Amino acid sequence: MKSFKDAPLIALEEIESTNTYLLDLLKQTGVEEGTIISAGFQTAGRGLGRNTWLSERGKNAIFSIVLFPDFLKIEDQFLITQAVSLGILNWTRSALPQKQIVIKWPNDILVEKKKICGILAQSSIQGSKLQFVVAGIGINVNQNDFGELNSIATSVYNESSGMNNINRVIQEIRNEIFEQYELLINEKHHLIQEKYLKELYLLNEKHDFISDGECFEGMILGVNHFGQLLIEDSSGKIRTFNTKEVVY
Ligand code: BTN
Repeated sequence: MKSFKDAPLIALEEIESTNTYLLDLLKQTGVEEGTIISAGFQTAGRGLGRNTWLSERGKNAIFSIVLFPDFLKIEDQFLITQAVSLGILNWTRSALPQKQIVIKWPNDILVEKKKICGILAQSSIQGSKLQFVVAGIGINVNQNDFGELNSIATSVYNESSGMNNINRVIQEIRNEIFEQYELLINEKHHLIQEKYLKELYLLNEKHDFISDGECFEGMILGVNHFGQLLIEDSSGKIRTFNTKEVVY
């Protein structure tokens, strides 16, 4: 299959949300796989669940990329989240080689335990196949102040004191995502699953978790095929969580 590394990169100054824009574009016209919509600023950036995504104007890589994984079954779609997360993790490692970088389930990238990147994947299904996935990516690049979130958010600049060209960052991340996506095209699903687990924050470590207002001690055992998080609690029971059902 042809690499999507050279697909169009449409850089817009200000839009509601790059995900919404790309989803609308897909409804209206033919779009090449790997096409990226980026924005200097989003007026209604979307996060996971009901969250919003805030980012200082012109400072960060804010973009959405479209994939056509029609070779995957619907029940395998978490593999896309895993592949995209690994691509971004690899880029972040190359930018910050001295830092501890992990994936926090399902798809946050943490540097020294602070969030540097969030991903919002939205998919469309046709029959029994995945028609497309829009992966919306917000990675903090040149922003240095996150206000009240300073203790939990960071950027490439804060971790290295170097400014980066945003368009170049986006191109490089697309290349990294393609490297991982190619493994899926070549049916190397197990490689993606193994690498994801190896990079998973708190895997096999005792930690406190909060779910439904209840605090419990447990250990992350991994994720199941559907991308749900598996935590063994102190009574030995394995509990299964969807996104946003558990906090840690
Ligand atoms: C999260 O809550 O962690 C996911 C955040 C995803 C934010 C990105 S920014 C580019 C794209 N457009 C959006 O509206 N959201 C995603």
